[in-house]
Amino acid sequence: MALIATMLKKFNYFFHQPEIDLTFPSYALRLNGQTLQIMKASDENISDLLILEEQVYSGKTPWNKFSFESELKKHSNSIYLVVYESSTLVAFVGMRLQAQEGHITNIAVKPSYQHQGIGTYLLNAMIELARKNHAVQMTLEVRVDNDNAKSVYQGLGFKPNFVRKNYYVSEHVDALSMIKKLTDREGEEC
Ligand SMILES: CC(C)(COP(=O)(O)OP(=O)(O)OC[C@H]1O[C@@H](n2cnc3c(N)ncnc32)[C@H](O)[C@@H]1OP(=O)(O)O)[C@@H](O)C(=O)NCCC(=O)NCCS
Repeated sequence: MALIATMLKKFNYFFHQPEIDLTFPSYALRLNGQTLQIMKASDENISDLLILEEQVYSGKTPWNKFSFESELKKHSNSIYLVVYESSTLVAFVGMRLQAQEGHITNIAVKPSYQHQGIGTYLLNAMIELARKNHAVQMTLEVRVDNDNAKSVYQGLGFKPNFVRKNYYVSEHVDALSMIKKLTDREGEEC
């Protein structure tokens, strides 16, 4: 029965595709005694995003200015959230919504703010947004050797799906593609 219900929902979706709504009002977030501001990113945040990337990836910027600009232009199906403490960017996350799937494109938390629950909070915010937009699954890619990130994703219910060989070409590193099926309130797959 659950399988038939799932198939009917998917069938219904393709014939009555709801518009994607990526509205995200800014708000203050109290976490571990800190007051952080969470908001939707715009072009104005790109220089801060690049600085944070350098801090996280030992001076490198895997996503350059043009990648961020291009992603932020896709207003209809792509969203970035940024988290500030005062005027300092401390974390960001990106997601693209396509064909009932929320794909996490990028996430980083400033090293001195890691292990405080910010990454988990941001991923949950994206999962919630994907759910509201009728996504049935979440996916992402992570370096096979990034145990820290894999552990966070697993804690949120992401499971290993398959390996993309040599995904990070310049470093000859494989990516693990991970997937999390989303369920409705009754626990059935949407
Ligand atoms: C991966 C990353 C985004 C996680 O962000 P984060 O904010 O550190 O994640 P969280 O704080 O939610 O969770 C990290 C760990 O801290 C723990 N934690 C959460 N709140 C905590 C708290 N208040 N006190 C102590 N530990 C806490 C979590 O349980 C989790 O433990 P686990 O690794 O055993 O699962 C961050 O480490 C990062 O930016 N890494 C570099 C960039 C990167 O690898 N990006 C991912 C590319 S795919």
